[in-house]
Amino acid sequence: MMNRRKITLNQQPPVITHSPAETHQWGRQFAKSLVPGTVVALYGELGAGKTHLTQGICAAFNVTEPVTSPTFTLINEYQGDLPIYHFDCYRIHSTWELIDMGAEEYFEGEGICLVEWAERVADILPPDTQHIRLEYI
Ligand SMILES: Nc1ncnc2c1ncn2[C@@H]1O[C@H](COP(=O)(O)OP(=O)(O)OP(=O)(O)O)[C@@H](O)[C@H]1O
Ligand SMILES: [Mg+2]
Repeated sequence: MMNRRKITLNQQPPVITHSPAETHQWGRQFAKSLVPGTVVALYGELGAGKTHLTQGICAAFNVTEPVTSPTFTLINEYQGDLPIYHFDCYRIHSTWELIDMGAEEYFEGEGICLVEWAERVADILPPDTQHIRLEYI
């Protein structure tokens, strides 16, 4: 029971996962639908599984380096088949912090942007952002 998560992509019917590996696999499958330049907004409480899902997406793009929450750096960049920019906005106090780091250029570029705690930067997410909500159930 403790391992169950509900994953909702945009307004689609939710999917239940029963382990971190299943969430990883969901991310890997979802990544097949991603085109260059996509921003993926990840929502969910601490430990909901945002980073595991991110790891699945990165695996699909053949990222070989370790993918962890960018706790102190705010943005991690991984080189896979495409550049992947991994943001963790947990400690963001104002959208300006992210803008100062060039987030809008990343969002408009040809890489894939994966944004944990995306609700904290809602006002600068592009209109065609993919929204993924993870919930404990
Ligand atoms: N079905 C599941 N999917 C994903 N993670 C799960 C699941 N069941 C249990 N877990 C556990 O929940 C935790 C998820 O951690 P993860 O770092 O992915 O969360 P997060 O949403 O990125 O958290 P944070 O906000 O701290 O960055 C891990 O400890 C993982 O083992
Ligand atoms: Mg995380």
